[in-house]
Amino acid sequence: MTEGYDVIADVYDKLNADIDYKAWADFAEKAFDRFLEKRPEIVLDLACGTGSMTVELAKRGYDMIGVDGSEQMLSVASERAYVNFGEDDEYRLPILYLLQDMRSFELYGTVGAVLCCLDSVNYLTGEGDLDKCFAAVHNYLDPDGIFLFDVNTPHKFKNIYGDNAYILEDEIEGSAVYCGWQNSFDEKTGICDFYLTLFSEGEDGKYIREEEHQRERMYSMEEIRKALEKNGFECLGAFSDYSFSEAEEKDERWYIAARAIK
Ligand SMILES: C[S@@+](CC[C@H](N)C(=O)[O-])C[C@H]1O[C@@H](n2cnc3c(N)ncnc32)[C@H](O)[C@@H]1O
Repeated sequence: MTEGYDVIADVYDKLNADIDYKAWADFAEKAFDRFLEKRPEIVLDLACGTGSMTVELAKRGYDMIGVDGSEQMLSVASERAYVNFGEDDEYRLPILYLLQDMRSFELYGTVGAVLCCLDSVNYLTGEGDLDKCFAAVHNYLDPDGIFLFDVNTPHKFKNIYGDNAYILEDEIEGSAVYCGWQNSFDEKTGICDFYLTLFSEGEDGKYIREEEHQRERMYSMEEIRKALEKNGFECLGAFSDYSFSEAEEKDERWYIAARAIK
């Protein structure tokens, strides 16, 4: 069984087709207007995955850096950076992709904003990982730069993931993909293991079976706020949705904004 995102990279976008990255990007831009004095020039998409958000913001005129720890996810992201204008006119968006760990990444300089979307922060599962990541983000943010991220909430881990199982199905370029998804959640440690079994239809109609294990960790609002403060951030707010409604316990996802104090 593969660990992380390597097996799922090719089908990740299809399985996440319902995610509205444009709405997340609109939220990010509204947060820039609300919390920054001027629009950031360089933005880091941390744990950028297949680059959906990175590309969306690059199209909106930001100089983008994407960091991710999975070579396969970055390979999909890299393909996506090419935009076609007409049949023969191909243009590569100005995106720098770096294969690095979000707990210890290094950039060439500081950036005006860091985003970390789609519960990537929950992938920090080891003791002290949240601190390491927040410290690295702080290190590479301009003074007063903004850090925006979302997390799966304790409510989601306890009541929605739990020990539940699902089947997701989709079709990719005419070939069927089925994903069996089994969760195992330990409320004491806050660790949730996801066991994924993918069946992808090959050109000859035969199915290939692959397995992947992923792990997330539940963080309470208090843990997040403490880690932000400890690593030099002022928490600007925790929100339920893209319209800045105040976060509530029953939410499945929280959107958090923090400012780097330097
Ligand atoms: C749920 S995906 C989100 C991807 C992307 N942000 C999006 O919105 O589609 C989580 C991503 O976190 C990355 N990841 C997990 N742990 C990581 C680590 N320690 N360092 C860097 N990337 C990591 C995975 O490779 C994966 O691409």
